[in-house]
Amino acid sequence: MHIRRLNPEDAMSFRELRLRALKDHPDAFGTSYEEAANLSIEKTAEKLKPSPDAFVLGAFDEAGKLVGMVGFHREKGMKKRHKGVIWGMYCLPECRGKGVGKALLAEAVKRARKMKGLELITLRVVASNDPAKNLYLSVGFRTWGKEPRSLKIGSRYMDQELMVLDFG
Ligand SMILES: CC(C)(COP(=O)(O)OP(=O)(O)OC[C@H]1O[C@@H](n2cnc3c(N)ncnc32)[C@H](O)[C@@H]1OP(=O)(O)O)[C@@H](O)C(=O)NCCC(=O)NCCS
Repeated sequence: MHIRRLNPEDAMSFRELRLRALKDHPDAFGTSYEEAANLSIEKTAEKLKPSPDAFVLGAFDEAGKLVGMVGFHREKGMKKRHKGVIWGMYCLPECRGKGVGKALLAEAVKRARKMKGLELITLRVVASNDPAKNLYLSVGFRTWGKEPRSLKIGSRYMDQELMVLDFG
């Protein structure tokens, strides 16, 4: 397994993986499949452009197939630039339970720690998503709050736990 930063040339495989995540796990993500599916390949490639404040990491298997991803971006604005956000954590079902998710997340945290002035990383996770919560806890995140009815799908609501990894 190999982890690296994705770039605009990875747009097709990134899009495929991201849409699979959103289709198979609508309850786990704040973005809907429909919203992501409407994003053109050009806009998708733009999201992967090198930036000092954002990256998407991909995990590749021996055959070079993209099997997992995690996104990170730093918040904008002088009063918020000390915070970063993890998004889009996902591994293909056949690759789960083998440490791929943890390796991706640990690498994202390592890179974020090197960003000058970055003090903490936040994320949101649906309260009933134990595999994801355990993954975040395993690299040092802690839950500091809960947002009731944070997501709404049709007439169903989901609470989200608010987690933080504080470098201090
Ligand atoms: C959450 C997800 C990314 C975990 O990826 P993974 O590669 O299977 O995770 P790992 O094998 O690296 O496991 C890391 C930790 O997560 C926890 N974990 C993983 N799968 C778990 C499961 N099924 N049940 C309970 N805990 C689990 C364990 O605590 C593990 O730590 P340990 O190895 O120290 O015991 C994966 O299950 C997934 O893609 N789920 C669907 C999408 C999703 O829910 N994304 C999160 C959105 S917030």
